[in-house]
Amino acid sequence: MAAADQKELQDAVDQQMKGAVTVIVFGASGDLAGKKTYPALYNLYRTGFMPKDTHIIGYARSKLDHDEYIRRITAHIKDKDKEEEFIKMTDYVSGKYDEDESFQKLNERIEELEEKRGLKPGQKNRIFYMALPPSVFEPVAEGLRKFVYGRKEDGHSRIVIEKPFGKDTESCTELLNNIKKLFAEEEVYRIDHYLGKEMVKNIMTLRFANMFLRPMWCAESIDNVQITLKEPFGTEGRGGYFDEYNIIRDVMQNHLLQVMSLIAMEKPKGSDPESIRDAKVELLRCVQPVKLHDTLLGQYVAANGKPGYKDDDTVPKDSICPTFAAMVLFINNKRWQDVPFIMKAGKALDNTKVEVRIQFKDMPSGIYEEAVRNELVIRIQPDEAMYFKFNSKNPGLSKRVITTDLDLTYKDRYKDMRIPDAYETLILDVLRSDHANFVRDDELDAAWKIFTPLLHQIDRDHIQPHTYPYGSRGPKDLDCFCKRYGVQRRGDVPYEWPVQSLAK
Ligand code: BG6
Repeated sequence: MAAADQKELQDAVDQQMKGAVTVIVFGASGDLAGKKTYPALYNLYRTGFMPKDTHIIGYARSKLDHDEYIRRITAHIKDKDKEEEFIKMTDYVSGKYDEDESFQKLNERIEELEEKRGLKPGQKNRIFYMALPPSVFEPVAEGLRKFVYGRKEDGHSRIVIEKPFGKDTESCTELLNNIKKLFAEEEVYRIDHYLGKEMVKNIMTLRFANMFLRPMWCAESIDNVQITLKEPFGTEGRGGYFDEYNIIRDVMQNHLLQVMSLIAMEKPKGSDPESIRDAKVELLRCVQPVKLHDTLLGQYVAANGKPGYKDDDTVPKDSICPTFAAMVLFINNKRWQDVPFIMKAGKALDNTKVEVRIQFKDMPSGIYEEAVRNELVIRIQPDEAMYFKFNSKNPGLSKRVITTDLDLTYKDRYKDMRIPDAYETLILDVLRSDHANFVRDDELDAAWKIFTPLLHQIDRDHIQPHTYPYGSRGPKDLDCFCKRYGVQRRGDVPYEWPVQSLAK
């Protein structure tokens, strides 16, 4: 990162935190904290973005001794050079999630440390990071507000929460109302970690800093948009959670919908967080609720030596929970009239990738029959890239039309590149008080309204998913389904990205 950029970000943190913060990680002994929250905090510390006087308190129910706590929170830290220093900044408090004395004890510990560190008013900032299952989320928020919330004149109190934010419009509204009673909207940071991913953050720049894209970003030029999330592993070990939520609630109503909002929204009035979130909400309100007949559901079964979804002991044997879904969303506005946005997501598929594929319309009355449709692909992961597929003359004596691409593959293009993990950027945003990449309450409401009727219908009518083998591309009807909405796949010769041979 250029020194000037680094300084600007550090100054923004300093301005907010006045050199000190206490981060309290709830659910500190759990998976999310160990894999994501602590490595992100460590990397921010290591790269000089945490305030000079930072202390981290892990809080959870498990009675861990210090060594076990340290073992868990450092297990996923990669660059170990500052690990010893980091360990000195953190300790652990065990307590219940629904008991006044536990929260009082936590508050005493925080105050004791604030005192010992000699923090002044303005420096007693507290960030509460909730890496917690939804069932304990509300009692913890209440306990916090009652006993641990700092005095305004002493510093900021901010609360960071992770999905799931309810299971449908109703439960989400209830959750939002309960939180609203405890914390002001500007104190709440609702994480959708996809908003912290490098390529997702680049979508706005791509769209609103490039004139050449402007005239083609609409129904007149674009035939369809495909947003895909494929994972090669099943739900092993998470069956209990997953069976209640399914693939639609798990990644589509949130992660993929956020990506779609950024692709489809109108230009925000400004680059400030509220203008950006206003633009997203406006877009979401134009998205029609998804219909069952625009949906293809799947559930994986055992294959290639891997277990099926229902082979997991935590999953009911008659579960109809979709682990795969393809669905088509339509946006009722002038820019996107009749353009299908095809979302696909699945567990236990043939590979790992998250991408947006924008397929342009056929050339009107083209003179090159072999020409295929242009496509702009934004590869979110793995291997961040953006490439634009276009037709070109085969180099040399041949006049044949071939498809090639303008290719921005990050690792080939950018020297000394370090792309921070999504959680790292988002925690930095919390420290800087930038809400642009967090989900606002009205955004959540609009998002749930798109999916709730479908989710209720699936439950009410016991819609059976199609089966697909573990490790496959999904249900066998998938290609047919996508074709119905105009998606064209190239015939016999598969397109080769990023290097292609001219001999084929
Ligand atoms: C989480 C889902 O929100 O996102 C998981 O609960 C999913 O099921 C994960 O695997 C995907 O995130 P990422 O960053 O690994 O693409």
